[in-house]
Amino acid sequence: MPNEQVSKITDDSFLHDVIQGLSGKTKTLPCKYFYDERGSVLFDAICELPEYYPTRTELKIMKDNASAIGSSLGKGVLLIEFGSGSSLKTRILLDNLVNPVAYIPVDISEEHLNRSASSLAESYPKLVILPVCADFTEKFSIPETEPADKTVIYFPGSTIGNFEENEAKLLLNRWRRLCVNGGGLLIGIDLIKDPKILEAAYNDEQGVTADFNLNILDRINKELGANFKTTNFTHRAHWDTDKSRVEMHLVSNCQQTALIDGHQITLEEGETIHTESSHKYTFKSFAEIASSANFKSKHVWIDENSWFGVYFLEAV
Ligand SMILES: C[S@@+](CC[C@H](N)C(=O)[O-])C[C@H]1O[C@@H](n2cnc3c(N)ncnc32)[C@H](O)[C@@H]1O
Repeated sequence: MPNEQVSKITDDSFLHDVIQGLSGKTKTLPCKYFYDERGSVLFDAICELPEYYPTRTELKIMKDNASAIGSSLGKGVLLIEFGSGSSLKTRILLDNLVNPVAYIPVDISEEHLNRSASSLAESYPKLVILPVCADFTEKFSIPETEPADKTVIYFPGSTIGNFEENEAKLLLNRWRRLCVNGGGLLIGIDLIKDPKILEAAYNDEQGVTADFNLNILDRINKELGANFKTTNFTHRAHWDTDKSRVEMHLVSNCQQTALIDGHQITLEEGETIHTESSHKYTFKSFAEIASSANFKSKHVWIDENSWFGVYFLEAV
């Protein structure tokens, strides 16, 4: 990973991925494109919703076990966070780390990343903070820092759940190489629970998740000059037991066409665009992913309902 070019979203890759995703028999859009500036603000609003238990639950686990988590990570750590967003949970971690060498937040949403990094710099004036705007699924350079005792990767929010099992294994396996020599991965995992709770979390009453989902079409209109009529789509999220995931879709309310850079996209009434999967795990299914990426579980902290797990995994 080090010494490679920074990989940011370009208009070309965005256009390519959108056309490819919408041209197949089953229509999909990569969920990383949710996160333009508005998408990031909407995601933060989702985190505050009564139905959206993951952020609240993970934050409580972090707070309740802050000192034990800090001790597990140890001193002199280089902390790299993938998909850092507002770096909210990171503050609890930073408050409990001894002499961290630097904090490198990596996120695809540039304005939001820079705003979060500035706010963090005000709170932690002595900490070296080196934000990197990049797509973490691609290769990119990690900035040079003072030598660290070890590297710890932080990946909260169950963002891992947005990946198919084979993709998740590949991602973790790639990151493992960054945290050899006693480092590790601190990762938040959403666990399987009552489908009613899962579905409510992605179908909030205020419609913020619907706005977040529809924002991907607004972004395609704005950045790629397309002409989707967002009022012609309805947000849908449902739990799929067989696939152990909540799927988010945009359902076409009528037969319609849209133009994107000269490409005509046709949707039938009832046809959907699959925009996000959020996989949920059992302890066993996540252990299988971790071990196949050559990570060994050192500690796991869970809430009283066993809804969410924060794992510290050691690179084998
Ligand atoms: C589900 S949110 C989690 C945010 C935060 N870590 C939390 O726990 O609340 C996913 C975050 O990852 C970022 N993200 C999604 N896909 C990404 C990618 N491929 N590369 C870099 N960042 C990405 C988004 O911008 C967003 O901030």
